[in-house]
Amino acid sequence: MTVEAKLSIAGLEKSFVGRKVVSVDRLEIGRHGIEGLIGPNGAGKTTLMGLITRKLKADAGTLIYRPGGTEIDLRQMSMDQVARAGLVKTNQVIQDFETLSIRDSLRLALAPAEREQFWTVFTKRRKRDAVEAEIDEILSHFPFENPNGDARSAGEKKLLDIIRCLLLKPKVLLMDEPTAGLPDDLTRAVMTLVQKKVAEEDLKVFIIEHDLDLIWDYCAHVNFLADGRLLCSGTPQEVKDHPVVVEKYMGVVDV
Ligand SMILES: Nc1ncnc2c1ncn2[C@@H]1O[C@H](COP(=O)(O)OP(=O)(O)OP(=O)(O)O)[C@@H](O)[C@H]1O
Ligand SMILES: [Mg+2]
Repeated sequence: MTVEAKLSIAGLEKSFVGRKVVSVDRLEIGRHGIEGLIGPNGAGKTTLMGLITRKLKADAGTLIYRPGGTEIDLRQMSMDQVARAGLVKTNQVIQDFETLSIRDSLRLALAPAEREQFWTVFTKRRKRDAVEAEIDEILSHFPFENPNGDARSAGEKKLLDIIRCLLLKPKVLLMDEPTAGLPDDLTRAVMTLVQKKVAEEDLKVFIIEHDLDLIWDYCAHVNFLADGRLLCSGTPQEVKDHPVVVEKYMGVVDV
């Protein structure tokens, strides 16, 4: 049985100052748990994500999002509406939370679920305990210097942003080089959390990375973009073995 894609892209085009940087005929995202988007610098990967989240306006093409039973035409929606519909990108909102402690940022990310619960003191308290337990669980895997204070380093801010986005319970999470600048052990901890959420929730992840080992290890399906075009898609092995990928990317020193 073919799983229906969460996102269907067709004929998507974007030019900057007369130069076409994205030209994707067809791309289906969200049939697999964790999917990768790779390609050389300047290939158009970040621009493609910007078009999906509506940060950027496409020149042409369609973007259909299927969070549940319904189909949403993303071209009709603002960036805020897209995020509220469960299509979330990491690295967007971190500044808004800089005045909050790490623990409060995580509480806030978990808050929308709380509002849906029954409004009795007893259940609210149980819910609160559950939220605190979830936060403790997360913090046990991510050694922030001071969880009751602010995120300090750029690495801590990045980590907090990723964790917050995951706690918002998105349907599709777009991650643009999420682990760049993080040490290896934290990269693995982040990806383990991503895998756990994908396994437990109705979540699909689309991830841009230059760290190819991470892509091969965690992605079930990989897309290769070059000069704005999708050159190939398939399993990590299929993409690794593709002659154009080998020539255009794997041989390049600066990846
Ligand atoms: N706002 C903009 N105005 C003009 N040109 C832009 C703009 N944003 C991106 N570009 C250009 O579009 C092309 C694609 O950029 P994009 O950032 O999408 O590439 P990328 O694949 O994410 O690269 P990297 O791997 O280096 O992050 C590049 O040539 C870039 O210089
Ligand atoms: Mg980029």
